[in-house]
Amino acid sequence: MLYKNPTAPLPARVEDLLERMTRSEKIAQLTQTFVYDDIREPVKSNIRKQGLGSRILALSNLAGNVTERIAEVEDLNELQRVAVEESRLGIPLLHGRDVIHGHRTVFPIPLAMAASWDPALVEEAFAISAREAASAGVHWTFAPMLDIGRDPRWGRIIEGFGEDPYLAARMASVAVRGIQGPKSEEGGPPFAPDRLLACAKHYIGYGAAEGGRDYNTAEISDNTLRNVYLPPFKAAVEAGVGSVMSAFHDLNGEPASGSRYLLTDLLRGELGFQGFVVSDWGSVYELTAHRVAADRREAALLAFDAGVDMDMCSDCFGDHLAELVESGAIPESKLDDAVRRVLTAKFRLGLFEMPYTDPQRGPQVQFTDEHRAVAQRLAARSLVLLKNNGILPLAKDAHRIALIGPLAEQRRALLGSWVNDGLIGETQTLLEAFQAACPQAEILSGGGPLTDEMLMAAARADVVILAVGESNARNGEANCVASLDLPAGQDALIEAVHGLGKPMVLLVLAGRPINLPRAVALADALLYAWHPGSLGAAAIAEVLFGETVPSGKLPVSFPRAEGQIPIHYNHKSTGRSTTQYHDLPSTPLFPFGFGLSYTTFSYRNLGVSPSEIQSGKCVTVSVTVTNTGTCAGEEVAQCYVHDCVASVTRPERELKGFVRVRLEPGESQRVEFVLGPDELSFYGRDGRWRLEPGLFKVGVGGDCRAELAVGFRVLAPA
Ligand code: NOJ
Repeated sequence: MLYKNPTAPLPARVEDLLERMTRSEKIAQLTQTFVYDDIREPVKSNIRKQGLGSRILALSNLAGNVTERIAEVEDLNELQRVAVEESRLGIPLLHGRDVIHGHRTVFPIPLAMAASWDPALVEEAFAISAREAASAGVHWTFAPMLDIGRDPRWGRIIEGFGEDPYLAARMASVAVRGIQGPKSEEGGPPFAPDRLLACAKHYIGYGAAEGGRDYNTAEISDNTLRNVYLPPFKAAVEAGVGSVMSAFHDLNGEPASGSRYLLTDLLRGELGFQGFVVSDWGSVYELTAHRVAADRREAALLAFDAGVDMDMCSDCFGDHLAELVESGAIPESKLDDAVRRVLTAKFRLGLFEMPYTDPQRGPQVQFTDEHRAVAQRLAARSLVLLKNNGILPLAKDAHRIALIGPLAEQRRALLGSWVNDGLIGETQTLLEAFQAACPQAEILSGGGPLTDEMLMAAARADVVILAVGESNARNGEANCVASLDLPAGQDALIEAVHGLGKPMVLLVLAGRPINLPRAVALADALLYAWHPGSLGAAAIAEVLFGETVPSGKLPVSFPRAEGQIPIHYNHKSTGRSTTQYHDLPSTPLFPFGFGLSYTTFSYRNLGVSPSEIQSGKCVTVSVTVTNTGTCAGEEVAQCYVHDCVASVTRPERELKGFVRVRLEPGESQRVEFVLGPDELSFYGRDGRWRLEPGLFKVGVGGDCRAELAVGFRVLAPA
C-alpha cells in the first residue's frame, strides 16, 4: 500500500489513502474528541470502526483553569494501538494538548515572554516545550496564541504577546519555528521527532471582546483588523504554521467559527494558509447559541462551509456531515479537501512511521538542567523594573530581609495559568530561591493575607520585599475583571508596610497590567514579575540581588485607571489635540516599551540614509547607544516610524524594529534598523497591502516615547 511507504512522496501517500477511505472514515478524521474513563470503551470501538482524527488531551473546556490529568504515555499508546492496529486503514491518532508556555519546564507566560523582547530565546523556549511535550506523546499544541491584547480586563491577555502587531508578529514567527522547526514546504519532509504541529489561535480579533469579557462580541473595522490583528497570524502563516484555531466570538456580525470571509477568503485566499483549521472547543455547536444556526446540523454546515476542517469536541461534524454530503449540501470534493489537509499533517508529523511514544523518553528529556537554564534566562529577561530609587540591587549582605505578602510562599502562582504538565513540587518558592541566592542573610518570611506576624517581621527587617499581585487563578480563560486594582486587601498591606518606614520593594506577580499608581508612589522599587514559570523565583532573586541587570520592557501599556481602556501607544491621530480627560492625564502610567535597568542608556546621532528612496527600496536608520551608568547592562533599542500623510488614517507611531544590545559602562554601539516595503506598507481602504510614497519620520529610543527626530522620503514610482 503506497500510503504506508515512507519513501513515497507525501502528496501521493495522501491521495492513495484518501482513495481507500469510506465517507464515514473521512468524517471521523475531521473529529476531535476527549476520552475519559467512562467513555473509553465506546471511543475505542468507534476508532476500530472508522478511526478518529484527533484525541484532545484535556478533559475540560476550561483546561487552563483546572489541573488536567497528566497524559500517561501508556494510556496514549493504548488507544493509538487501537487506531493503528485494529482499525481498517490504521490511521494514527493526532494527540492535541495545550502546551502554552512550557510542558514540564514551565516558561514565563507568553505576555512575559514578549516582555523579554528576545525572539531567539523565545524560540528556544518553544522548541524546548515541543521537545518535552513530544517526549510525553503530544503531537500537536494549541499554541501560539496570537490575539492582540489592548484590554487588560480580558483575562486571556496573559496568553498573547501584548498590544503591538510588530512585536507580536516577531514572536509569532519564532514561536512557530520553535514548535515546528524551520519551515518546510507542504508535502516536504516530515517534522523532526522532537517537534510538534503548531496552532495559531484564536483566529481572529478574539482579544477585542467588548468590555474585556471573554467570548464577547467584537467590532473591529477592516482597517484595524488587517493592520493590527492580522500581522501575527500573517507571520505565523509565513513561518509555515500547520494549523489555525477558529475563535469563539462574534466578529462584525459573524461568529469567527462560521465566517467564510475570515476562514477562507482572508486566511486561505489572501494569506495563503495551507494547513487545516480546527474549531475551538465546542465553537461549531456554539453557532446555535450565536443564533446563526438553528440546530447542530446547520451549525455543522455553516462551520464546514466557512472553512473549519476539524470539529473540536462538539461532534456536530460527526453527527451531520455524512447526511450533508449525501444531500449535496456539501460537495464530496470539499470533504476530501479537508481530509487531505488533516492527513497531510499526520504524514508530516511522521505518525504513520512512529505512532507510539517511548515511555523511557520523557524522563530523559524533561526538566533537564539545560531546559531549566533557558527557563531561568528567559524569566530573568522578562522581568520589568518599573521603579527604583536606588535601593536595587539589594546588597547580598543585607542581614535581615522580610519576604512577605500574599504571594511570598506561593509555588503555583509563579507558574501562571495554562500549566498542565509542570510540577508544582518542582517549582522553587521565592523563599527557597532567596535563601540559595543570599545564604548570609536572615530571611523572615510570611505568606498569606495581612497578619500581625507579617508586619512584625517587616518591622524587624532592614528591607521588606512584598510579594503582591494575582494568583494564577485570577487570569487566563474566562477570568476577566472589571477593576484592575490589586486584589482585596493588598493595597492596605502596602500602606501598612509603608507605614513602618522600612525600605520596601514591591514584587508584583500578575498576568495583566494592574492599577499601580498608589503602589508606585509608596514603594522604593517595583519589579513586575508576571507569572515567571518554574525557574521564576530564581530569576527574581538573580535580578533583585544584582547578579543580572533587569532588561525587560513592557509589551503592553499600563493604564492609570480602567477608564483609559483601550489605551495603546499606536493610536491614531485625531483632528484636535484636546482629547483629554478632566480627571486624569491621557497618557498611560507606564508606556509600551518601558522598563528600567540598573544602569542608564543614552541615544545620540540618530541618522537615516539615504534620505530619499525609490518605492520598494530600503533605508537604514542608525543611532549610537551608550551605557551612561556604572554597570554593564542590556538595552532594547526600539525603532518607531510615523507615516506623515497617507490615504487612510495611520497610527501616530508604530514599532518597526528592535534590537537588544549589551554594553559595558561607558561603552557605545551604533545600532541599525533597515526599513523597507514590509515595514512601510499597510492595508489600505481596498484591503490591499500598499506602500504609499511620501515622508516618514523615525525615532529610536528605550520606549515608545522616542523622539521622531529624522525623516526620509519614499518617491512615487516613476
Ligand atoms: C478553549 C480555549 O479557548 C483554547 O485556547 C484551547 O486551546 C481549547 N479550549 C482546548 O483546551
